[in-house]
Amino acid sequence: MRDVTKDNITDVFMGYLGEDVNPRLREVMGSLVRHLHGFARDVNLTHEEWNTGIAFLERAGEISDKERHEFVLLSDVLGLSSLVDMLHNLPEGTSSSVLGPFHITGSPPLRVGGDMRKGFDAPVLLVEGIVKNPDGAPIPGATLDIWQTAPNGLYSSQDPDQETYSFHGLQTVGADGRYAFTTVRPVEYTVPSDGPVGDILRACGRHPWRPSHLHFIAEAEGYKTLVTEVFPEDDPYLDQDTVFGVREDLVMRYVQMPAGTFPEKGFDLSGKVPDAYLKVAFDLTLVLA
Ligand code: BEZ
Ligand code: FE
Repeated sequence: MRDVTKDNITDVFMGYLGEDVNPRLREVMGSLVRHLHGFARDVNLTHEEWNTGIAFLERAGEISDKERHEFVLLSDVLGLSSLVDMLHNLPEGTSSSVLGPFHITGSPPLRVGGDMRKGFDAPVLLVEGIVKNPDGAPIPGATLDIWQTAPNGLYSSQDPDQETYSFHGLQTVGADGRYAFTTVRPVEYTVPSDGPVGDILRACGRHPWRPSHLHFIAEAEGYKTLVTEVFPEDDPYLDQDTVFGVREDLVMRYVQMPAGTFPEKGFDLSGKVPDAYLKVAFDLTLVLA
C-alpha cells in the first residue's frame, strides 16, 4: 500500500497481518492498534509529545531488572492491572487484587496459630478466618501464602535490615478450613517513586501511597488460585489507593481487643500477650477452577 493516509492507516495495518495469524492475536493487535491510532488522533499527538513518551519507555526499560519491574508498576498505576483482574473476577468468590512486586517464593511454613511478628516492637495483630467454597463449606488443605510490610513500611526485599522471609509465611489450613496467625498491623507505604513512573505520578498531581494491607495467595486443588489483599476500614488511603486495589469485600475492621483477652491456647503467643491487641477476621471464598 503506497497511498497510506491518516484516515486509512488503521485498516492498512490490519491488511498487513498474515492470513494465518492466530485469530486471538489478530483480535488483540487489531484492537490495540485501533485504540493507539484513535488516541493519537484524539489528542492530535505532536512529535515532541511522542518523543517524550518514547523517552519514558526507554527509561522504564533501563531501570528495570530482575527485582525492579517498572512496566508492571506502570500497569498498576494506570489501573490496567486492576482492570484485568476485575474482568476475570467471579462474583461468587472473594475479590482478587494486585499481586505487586514484593511477593517472593519459598516462604517458610507458618503453623495455624503461628507468629510472624517475631521480635518486632509493635502491637500484636491477630488475623484469622476460614478458607471456604461458595457454598460456605471449608476447604481442608488449602494453602495461604501471606506477606506484608514491617512496621517501617518496607518489605523484606527492600530492607537490608530484615531477614529474607521476615513477614512472610505459608500456612496450610486444617480440616475445618481455619487459618490463624499473629503479626503486626501493616502500615501504609509508597510504591517506588524514584523512577519514571514516579515522574508520571508527580506530573499528574498524584501521590504514590497505598493503604496498608496484608497480601494473600490462596491455593487449593480444584480451585482457582486467588491473589488478594485485606485492608483496614480506617486507613486514610483507602479511597485513593494509587494502584486501584481496594474492593468493598476486602475492607475489614481491625477490632481493638481489651488487655487479658488474648486466646489462652492455640497460638505461639498464647500466654505472652497480656496487653490489648488488634484482631481482624477475614474469610476467603475460592471458586472452582
Ligand atoms: C504492593 O502491594 O506490594 C504493590 C502493588 C502494586 C505496586 C507496588 C506495590
Ligand atoms: Fe503490598
